[in-house]
Amino acid sequence: MNSFLWVSVVVLFIAAAWFAWRYYDLKKRMNSYASLVRAQPNNLPTDLKDLETLSNSIASLKADFEIRLSNLDSQSARLSTVLEQLTDGVLIADAQGQVQFANPAACKLFDTNDPLDHSVAEIVRNHQLIEAWRRCQQTRETQSESVELPIRRQFLQLIVIPDTHEGGSLLLVQDLTRVRRLETVRRDFISNVSHELRTPLASLKALTETLQNGALSDPQAGPRFLGRITTEVDALTQMAQELLDLSRIESGQVELIRALLEPKKLLSSAADRMKMQAERAGLKLTVMCADNLPMINVDKSRLEQVLVNLIHNSVKFTKPGGEIFLEAAPANGGVRCAVRDTGSGIPAESLSRIFERFYRVDRSRTGSGTGLGLSISKHIVEAHEGKIWAESEEGKGCAIYFEIPV
Ligand SMILES: Nc1ncnc2c1ncn2[C@@H]1O[C@H](COP(=O)(O)OP(=O)(O)O)[C@@H](O)[C@H]1O
Ligand SMILES: [Mg+2]
Repeated sequence: MNSFLWVSVVVLFIAAAWFAWRYYDLKKRMNSYASLVRAQPNNLPTDLKDLETLSNSIASLKADFEIRLSNLDSQSARLSTVLEQLTDGVLIADAQGQVQFANPAACKLFDTNDPLDHSVAEIVRNHQLIEAWRRCQQTRETQSESVELPIRRQFLQLIVIPDTHEGGSLLLVQDLTRVRRLETVRRDFISNVSHELRTPLASLKALTETLQNGALSDPQAGPRFLGRITTEVDALTQMAQELLDLSRIESGQVELIRALLEPKKLLSSAADRMKMQAERAGLKLTVMCADNLPMINVDKSRLEQVLVNLIHNSVKFTKPGGEIFLEAAPANGGVRCAVRDTGSGIPAESLSRIFERFYRVDRSRTGSGTGLGLSISKHIVEAHEGKIWAESEEGKGCAIYFEIPV
């Protein structure tokens, strides 16, 4: 009996020691595995005796986690590209009004380099816009506000959207300056057109009334008034044609039919068309062009129209006995053409404006003219990726240049 007890005690002791050792060993390996997971998550051992199930679960969790992380990464990259390329400004402010995020467009619109951790008020610097943000913070409702900033020459629209999670807000800023300017241009255009129509129509009305009141039977006044009516109708027809041309060119409906062309040919054919008109006005028209100019890839009839417009102006604004020169020379890797005259010239303050629609330096001096010719010419030159400009000394003459890249 005694010996049986002893044997049992010894067996129990050995079993307990074995379990204790197993427990100790397992705990040690678990700890070292845990620190490996923490230290080198990318390089985990796979041959783990007794810990395979745990290790497999961790490995599959890790794979899952990595897939999610890479999805999140690509989503956030896409989002930041969108925010970076967006032309509208985006600002995110926290509940205290500190800016937490701003995209490049917002920095540009508000003219700041480092908006983070500045307050909305410091960045926006306009009390109406700041008020809109305050209203949104108080009411937690979307607010919008449009303001004109005369100093910065901007017209901005701000939309403030409350951020439901953080108590902050999202500010979207749109630059409507261009849209506004286009609206003004369109309004001016319509009022210009109606004004330009009214003048010839009023004189037509006066002429016909005079004819009706007896001038028709007058052998001298009758034909003279009819002649003036024809002139007014011609001017109206020309204006209708030029307006149509302009609107077609501006809306991109005119397609250039390009072909390689020698600049000299272009100048001579424009000169041939205008020679008679120049001679009748008592002017000498000279073409000055080198033979070895590079060929240009242009729409011949359109560019000829530009030259004819320019020569026509020179004829109109140069007194008999004057001269007109048509020139072409190599410039900036392209060809520069010029129409120069010895006429009345253009005052310095008008030089930059003559290419505007309906702009005429001296309305009384021009007589027949709509002020659209140069504007059409500018569009045609720009459609050829070229540029056009004027140089002049008032009283001595004027030169209009345009450059066409090869
Ligand atoms: N060669 C020039 N000499 C003097 N003034 C010119 C000349 N070309 C253009 N201008 C000025 O520019 C204005 C605009 O020209 P343009 O657009 O061709 O209109 P238009 O010929 O119908 O008046 C003219 O009215 C004139 O005042
Ligand atoms: Mg003209």
